[in-house]
Amino acid sequence: MPGLLLGDVFPNFEAETTFGTIKLHEFLGDSWGILFSHPRDYTPVCTTELGRAARLSGEFSKRNVRMIALSINSVEDHHGWSKDILAYNCEDPSCCSLPFPIIADSKRELAIALGMLDPDEKDNDGMPLTARCVFIIGPDKRLKLSLLYPATTGRNFDEILRVVDALQLTVTRRVATPADWKPGDCVMVPPGLSEKEAASLFPAGVYTKDLPSGKKYLRYTPQLGAQAECLYSELQLSNMK
Ligand code: BEZ
Repeated sequence: MPGLLLGDVFPNFEAETTFGTIKLHEFLGDSWGILFSHPRDYTPVCTTELGRAARLSGEFSKRNVRMIALSINSVEDHHGWSKDILAYNCEDPSCCSLPFPIIADSKRELAIALGMLDPDEKDNDGMPLTARCVFIIGPDKRLKLSLLYPATTGRNFDEILRVVDALQLTVTRRVATPADWKPGDCVMVPPGLSEKEAASLFPAGVYTKDLPSGKKYLRYTPQLGAQAECLYSELQLSNMK
């Protein structure tokens, strides 16, 4: 099955969308991008997902991320379905419109090219539906992250926002983010950095957790401007010893 690997240049495809014909790279410009795919219009899980994505669109804009959705129906269907999504979101759907385009992948050309089909979910003609993919694309148009959920499991858009924060942090600083990291928490010093390099890169301090192996790899440092919370985490860790 064709697909994309991390670091690949995302294809600059042309597609019909609810915002007209777009070419992906021109649509993204210098921004980050998120492409999220959906099995089919007028389905319940997809409606809640697009509603949530629309409610979070201001947060994605703040992070310079342009959003684009994809589903296998026509542009006309997408326009009709958008009204349902807006009604799911608010009392007065006439007050607004979806803040991102939806691609009409009627022939599943993109679903096939990007490896997004879910073989377990089929339409009435026995054709596989599109799975719930998330592609996060950097300003260099390269794939930074991908997630693939089956049609039956809705995505968590707070998590998608969180990984954007982590990705944007780790391209600007030589750090990594631990499990369940959220902005303001300590970040990890990556294994490739020597103690000397870490000390010069992180003048706020590097805290190394003592481990049974004696190896000094569990190192963390405050996120810039968030030292107090990191020291708090250090206290919590010492309490657990
Ligand atoms: C849904 O969006 O609700 C859905 C779509 C295809 C299969 C299962 C659920």
